Amino acid sequence: MKAAILGFGTVGRGTYEALKETDCGLEVKKVLDLYVPSGYEDLVTTDFNDILFDSEITVVAEAMGGLHPSYEFVTACLEKGKSVVSSNKYLICTYYRELTELAEKNGCVLRYTPAVGGGIPWLNNLSRIARLDEILSFRGIVNGTTNYILDAMQTRSFPFKDALRVAQELGYAESDPTSDLNGADARRKCAISANIAFDTIMDEDDIPTFGIENITDRDVEIFGRMGVTARLIAEAVMTPSGISASVEPVLFPPESLESSIHVNYNCITLFGRRTGQLSFIGQGAGKDPTGCSLANDMLDAAYDTRRDSHVFPESIPPTDKTTVRKRYYIRCSDELSALGFSSPEEGAYITERMSLTDIHSLYDNLKDKNAFIASIDKEVTA
Ligand code: HSE
Repeated sequence: MKAAILGFGTVGRGTYEALKETDCGLEVKKVLDLYVPSGYEDLVTTDFNDILFDSEITVVAEAMGGLHPSYEFVTACLEKGKSVVSSNKYLICTYYRELTELAEKNGCVLRYTPAVGGGIPWLNNLSRIARLDEILSFRGIVNGTTNYILDAMQTRSFPFKDALRVAQELGYAESDPTSDLNGADARRKCAISANIAFDTIMDEDDIPTFGIENITDRDVEIFGRMGVTARLIAEAVMTPSGISASVEPVLFPPESLESSIHVNYNCITLFGRRTGQLSFIGQGAGKDPTGCSLANDMLDAAYDTRRDSHVFPESIPPTDKTTVRKRYYIRCSDELSALGFSSPEEGAYITERMSLTDIHSLYDNLKDKNAFIASIDKEVTA
């Protein structure tokens, strides 16, 4: 069978090599990229129509990233009846319903396992479990770049900028790493996971998010004295009032699972009514793990053509930003003593339990826009 890959960057190359170096029977006939690298003249084209109008090509992998023109290319392929797999969390999060329905209408497969967790088979297992079990919640580390940075700062005393540079060199970061650092990448992965877990259609803008762009060496020193480890966490909980979803740094005790997740690894845990607790750990970013996962989606699309037929529910659960309440660490130059928070060190505060609405409102009203905020895991007693 013949396939094509859109994009010959980090993930596209990893996907190509995974298929080429194994005897899997799926041949990559064409790759689309803006430039034709030397030695790849027979493989790489700059003209999308060479793929769209090639009837031999039945599976197309999108590894371009960004919304446009990936949206136009993916919809054109689905309309032509080609199955599509994608590692693009931004695309899948933004056009989840439309792309799912388009694949269904045209009788083709749409898969996007590496869009969350890179090399971890998280989404396909979440989807499989959710067929028979009620997912109560999930939470986890879903961004390899920020995990690499937090880990390097806390265990190897790297300055923030150096850790980011290495994460970029290792191919973990987005081409513009802003979405890694400000939590937008994790927020999109949270929305996609929530869609599968709770059969909903989440708007990423409805997920309150704090990133790690403001973390300083001083925060890391304070965490060392508190005996906690910071990790960027995406979480979604089905409460009686709706879905409580968030992305924020969380401070964990040393014995927690999340504290033991290093470098670019991700760790996502679901809690199912029947399944109980189930964790998935693996490399969340990088050429080979992500490429291998996308190549596996291509094989599934080529050889297992059962579509995950999906009818969207008529109404979707509301979002709930008030039921879940946590303590927060706030480091800022605003004077917050009058609010009754404890202050373990000058300029650092520990709040009482607060809702997502309240902590984001507090942050929005701070004068110090470089404040760093993290929630405190319930197992931390200090
Ligand atoms: N920039 C992303 C990350 C790539 O660091 O997790 C994988 O989605």
